Amino acid sequence: MNRTVSVFGVGYLGLVTTVVLADKVPTIGFDSDKSKIRQLNQGFLSVFEPELEIWMKRNWVNLKFVEEPTMAVEKADIIFLTVDTPNLSDGCQDLSRIKDAVKRIGSLLKKSEHKIIAIKSTVLPKTTEKVIIPLLEEASNLKESKDFHVCTVPEFLREGHAIEDTVNPDKIVIGSNDSYATHMMKEFYEEFHERKTPILCTNFVNAEMIKYAQNVFLATKISFINTIANICERTTGADVEAVAEAIGLDKRISPFFFQAGLGFGGGCLPKDLNCFRKFSQQNEYNPILLNAVNKVNEAQPFRVVRMAESYFGDLKKKKFAVLGLSFKPETDDIRGAISLKIIETLLQKGAAIMVYDPKAMAKVKQTFGDRISYAHDIEECLSSADCCIIVTEWAEFQSLTPKLFRSLMKQPVIIDGRRTLNRADFKDFVFYGIGLADQDHLLREDVLAEDPDNRQ
Ligand code: UDX
Repeated sequence: MNRTVSVFGVGYLGLVTTVVLADKVPTIGFDSDKSKIRQLNQGFLSVFEPELEIWMKRNWVNLKFVEEPTMAVEKADIIFLTVDTPNLSDGCQDLSRIKDAVKRIGSLLKKSEHKIIAIKSTVLPKTTEKVIIPLLEEASNLKESKDFHVCTVPEFLREGHAIEDTVNPDKIVIGSNDSYATHMMKEFYEEFHERKTPILCTNFVNAEMIKYAQNVFLATKISFINTIANICERTTGADVEAVAEAIGLDKRISPFFFQAGLGFGGGCLPKDLNCFRKFSQQNEYNPILLNAVNKVNEAQPFRVVRMAESYFGDLKKKKFAVLGLSFKPETDDIRGAISLKIIETLLQKGAAIMVYDPKAMAKVKQTFGDRISYAHDIEECLSSADCCIIVTEWAEFQSLTPKLFRSLMKQPVIIDGRRTLNRADFKDFVFYGIGLADQDHLLREDVLAEDPDNRQ
């Protein structure tokens, strides 16, 4: 492929994009954080993602990380924009970083170069047309569609599977009102993915809408199955896993993304759900369904704390072993992690907490400091604990045996928030699993009455 591309913003998404693009084309990564660029130039990764390091080493000859934006604009035919778009405290989207990046790019564009600016950052519908293009035109004093071109190419990769999702995505969406941009990007992606990936071309606003609609649908699927799990818990003999497996076999539903647990966390689903709800309200539509999805998700993590209270009563000085801290397995990311909410609540109730995670210990230490203890391994974490809570379903927790728990813990009380263990193996334990009925020893009436799901 005889093109050069650049990536503006080498945070998580930008870095994965840069490293994968470099597999086939010379790729320049730029970030305004100079220390990040220096680290990358020394081969250090600021994030953990399976295979990322291998791919970075493999594609090193095609990679360049730069501290100044000039080369990233001048040398590139396509400039991917991957800076993050966090939410402000009121749920509205914070576009300050994207605006800074766009102004920088705009100031370096030249007449009739026909560069393409491809927006990968998640932006609300209409942002490309109302904010990004006007800023590019103002900063460059040039015209979009005439001198330079813009398209929206939303990203659907999952953390923990980011390389595989980028190399082999289910689909590519190209949104633009500029036929040159659409044509060039389609050609680029067809060549890049060797025509194996479906490519859908649409306008700006649909591409922006697709990204949000997909993420809020995924969020809805999880809150739905968590609702079924919560009903199963109150229905003798029921088990959400059996129910989900059967429903998932219906092709209209699918078995994927259908695992009941403690709710969805991470840097995207909760943020995008809230931002889209706000967007909907601002457009004078009350998104009742999405509000309920959020409500279910807000309440779900606290179920495990209520279960512990139901069994122990007062949690003061009770020692908890928390296994799994990252927002999901195979990442060290703790943004929006359910573990943080659970730990904070347990601390407020006076519990003593020891935690363990294969990857996220350093990040959690930055958050909680010496308010909690950090174990070197699972065994140390379980040692003399009154109760173990499994928060993230890392594979290494699945093979833990009843013998191990029994030999190390003070009391054999397990709360499995992600259905990681096989309950049948833990018959003589006090065992609570999300979506499992017949846990009467844990479900005290007064605790059930406190269930926020029961409040109107
Ligand atoms: C998500 C979207 O999946 C991805 O398409 C988008 O590009 C970015 O946001 P990611 O944040 O990496 O990806 O995480 P995801 O795999 O979606 O998981 C989000 C949360 O949902 C995690 O906390 C996970 O534990 C939870 N989850 C996921 C469930 O509780 N049950 C499931 O069945 C799947």
